[in-house]
Amino acid sequence: MGHLTLEGIGKDYDGNEISRDIDLTIADGEFVVFVGPSGCGKSTLLRMVAGLEDITRGQMSLDGERINEIPPQERDIGMVFQSYALYPHMTVAENMAFGLKLARTDKAEIRRRVEHAADILQLTPLLERKPKDLSGGQRQRVAIGRTLVKEPAVFLFDEPLSNLDASLRVEMRVQIAELHKRLGATMIYVTHDQVEAMTLADRIVLLSGGRIAQVGAPLSLYHFPQSLEVAEFIGSPRINTLPVTVVDPGPRRTGVRLPSGEPLAVAVLARGLAAGDTATLGVRAEDFVAPDRAEARLTARLMVAEKLGYETLAHLQVEGVEGTLTRRLDGLAHLEEHQAVVLGLAGDHCHLFGPDGRACPRQVEIPGIAH
Ligand SMILES: Nc1ncnc2c1ncn2[C@@H]1O[C@H](COP(=O)(O)OP(=O)(O)OP(=O)(O)O)[C@@H](O)[C@H]1O
Ligand SMILES: [Mg+2]
Repeated sequence: MGHLTLEGIGKDYDGNEISRDIDLTIADGEFVVFVGPSGCGKSTLLRMVAGLEDITRGQMSLDGERINEIPPQERDIGMVFQSYALYPHMTVAENMAFGLKLARTDKAEIRRRVEHAADILQLTPLLERKPKDLSGGQRQRVAIGRTLVKEPAVFLFDEPLSNLDASLRVEMRVQIAELHKRLGATMIYVTHDQVEAMTLADRIVLLSGGRIAQVGAPLSLYHFPQSLEVAEFIGSPRINTLPVTVVDPGPRRTGVRLPSGEPLAVAVLARGLAAGDTATLGVRAEDFVAPDRAEARLTARLMVAEKLGYETLAHLQVEGVEGTLTRRLDGLAHLEEHQAVVLGLAGDHCHLFGPDGRACPRQVEIPGIAH
């Protein structure tokens, strides 16, 4: 079993609060990803779960038992690190067996577990090799194997793929997803790569400044971000933002005035907003609509078109908006430099954020995606 509960967890280093007010329950078998910008406290939180850092405040329990004071080796938890130092003079099999030997596990049992882990990780033909004769991806699999042989209830991964090149990352990502399916163990995975977070997670925990900014299914965070910060972190290209003036706050639709002067009724509850307030409109790159469906328009000029084959990202300049907006177009769009482009907006496809950065709750339903 691997049911983890974090209640009011906090961590101070030299009097500075690094993690604060972390309340989180992770179900047995769940795949949870901690994501957030560098320095937001992802590794610190993971290391507290592992027992490698003292917990300053709060209580942590595994399957209902407090583990705050339990040393790492006695927790039913295994960790895979970003920099995985394998022992160079040992074979793959010896590297994987090492921890179990130290724990004086029975020899036959060690063999069984190493063979089983090698089978799962496709390392069986490599068991007698030394680390220097392996590729980066194979070494990373050995590092995972070292943890796998411990058969822990909870696996912790701290950016395990960040030392690998792009194509290997994709391959390992799929393998980790398969590993999770096969083992059904609880996994907590730290990354600052939002694609990894979106593709691996049952639930994402987005951390910011040591706190939880939002917890939810990947697509819930994408479609129903609770703050501008979450909206900007999740999704690539980054969500477009433009300043608007609130003219008609309402419970299901909130009227705003665009930089062009045109009105738009955004499908949100105007929580805390009053007429005359400045707010931020958010539009994802794929959420601009065709002119015939548009409820409001922005006139833009094409600055750069990035043609990626399967899609084109048009970077556009709009009067009254700082920087550029990005529109995603299918396939090879025919665009000429500096050409004028009309961006269509529809109230159902926009987000609205107040001056404090909090999202106004969207009043739209997306099948299968919880608010
Ligand atoms: N041993 C330490 N003593 C003092 N401060 C620390 C210590 N370890 C981490 N910190 C600080 O705690 C904060 C969070 O660090 P942490 O390593 O958890 O961030 P992170 O989210 O994992 O970042 P990254 O994505 O860069 O790995 C940072 O400001 C860091 O400087
Ligand atoms: Mg880290």
